[in-house]
Amino acid sequence: MKICLVTGSSGLIGSEVSAYFHERGFIVHGVDNNQREIFFGPQGNTRWNEKRMQGALAHFTHHELDIRDRNGVLELIKALKPAVIIHTAAQPSHDLAAKIPFDDFDVNAVGTLNLLEAARRFCPESPFVHMSTNKVYGDRPNTIKLKELPKRWDYDDAEFAGGIPESFPIDQSKHSLFGASKVASDIMAQEYGRYFDMPTCCLRGGCLTGPNHSGVELHGFLSYLVKCNLEGREYKIYGYKGKQVRDNIHSADVAGFMFEFCQSPRSGEVYNLGGGKQNSCSILEAFEMAEACTGKKQISTYVDQARSGDHICYYSDLSKMQVHYPKWKLTRNLPQIFQEITESWHQRTAK
Ligand SMILES: NC(=O)c1ccc[n+]([C@@H]2O[C@H](COP(=O)([O-])OP(=O)(O)OC[C@H]3O[C@@H](n4cnc5c(N)ncnc54)[C@H](O)[C@@H]3O)[C@@H](O)[C@H]2O)c1
Repeated sequence: MKICLVTGSSGLIGSEVSAYFHERGFIVHGVDNNQREIFFGPQGNTRWNEKRMQGALAHFTHHELDIRDRNGVLELIKALKPAVIIHTAAQPSHDLAAKIPFDDFDVNAVGTLNLLEAARRFCPESPFVHMSTNKVYGDRPNTIKLKELPKRWDYDDAEFAGGIPESFPIDQSKHSLFGASKVASDIMAQEYGRYFDMPTCCLRGGCLTGPNHSGVELHGFLSYLVKCNLEGREYKIYGYKGKQVRDNIHSADVAGFMFEFCQSPRSGEVYNLGGGKQNSCSILEAFEMAEACTGKKQISTYVDQARSGDHICYYSDLSKMQVHYPKWKLTRNLPQIFQEITESWHQRTAK
């Protein structure tokens, strides 16, 4: 059986990918040190998910390793020589990065370099998927002409009617320190593809979501929003009248794309991976969908100050992914995503 190494395996994407590859016959080795709890406090704890996977997946081994531990990473990859590496461990919050710039850069940029270099030394033929972010585009998407609709912003420029393509410029705009550390890792993953001809790709995620997110205010938009709704807790809207738009993709569809890439890898590729226009919503629209799902009124307050560098309207153009990997498609729409997240919070809070 082939080995799949997943970093960030107790997180939203890492856990989904572990299950997805396991179901398709891989032995899965997961790397996670519950750093999410250190970043976000007890609400960010991912141990529940680690335990869930150890119970559910017969061929899953957990490694309590920090990806900043260079020798630890080199030794693990030397010992396992995985057939596939999926890198999802990260400091994932835009806002938190400014408070912890060294940790943010060391995890996101240096941690990724540790993994890429270990892969080059011990398994250079193995597909390496790096989970990047749409924040690599900085706030430049905000320069696209927009139109204001009753409940959302939308592009008012035919060039972007299908969303933001991979050719969109990434520099000379405000990224947040998080966006900057992710740019460093994104370029490095591309470079290991181009310079060393390794089968790497960067997936520039929109809003990645799903039932297994440990959503907190600073990260995990829909998961946190539904949690607030269920608990009758206030959700704070930061700026843009609550009409800011995000495209949401279920973690299973993220894992599905990663699997397709690993079946037929290319080198140094970049894809915008989100829910596209069809799975996009504003915060106001998300409130309505949560209310329809839970039957509870969403409580919110408005802060008339947008988060620094935040996108007003962002949805991904999925056409490059669909041309390169025609078997891949979105399998969950927004109502299904809300339903799954709601059920998961019910189950977790019932324990
Ligand atoms: N969720 C989103 O909306 C979103 C959007 C765009 C991009 N992304 C990217 O996708 C990836 C996965 O995001 P997610 O939502 O699953 O995040 P997550 O926080 O749920 O999962 C990340 C996991 O990595 C672990 N981790 C963090 N630092 C580590 C370290 N130094 N060593 C070992 N493990 C460590 C955490 O404990 C956590 O379990 C990240 O690269 C993130 O930047 C996420």
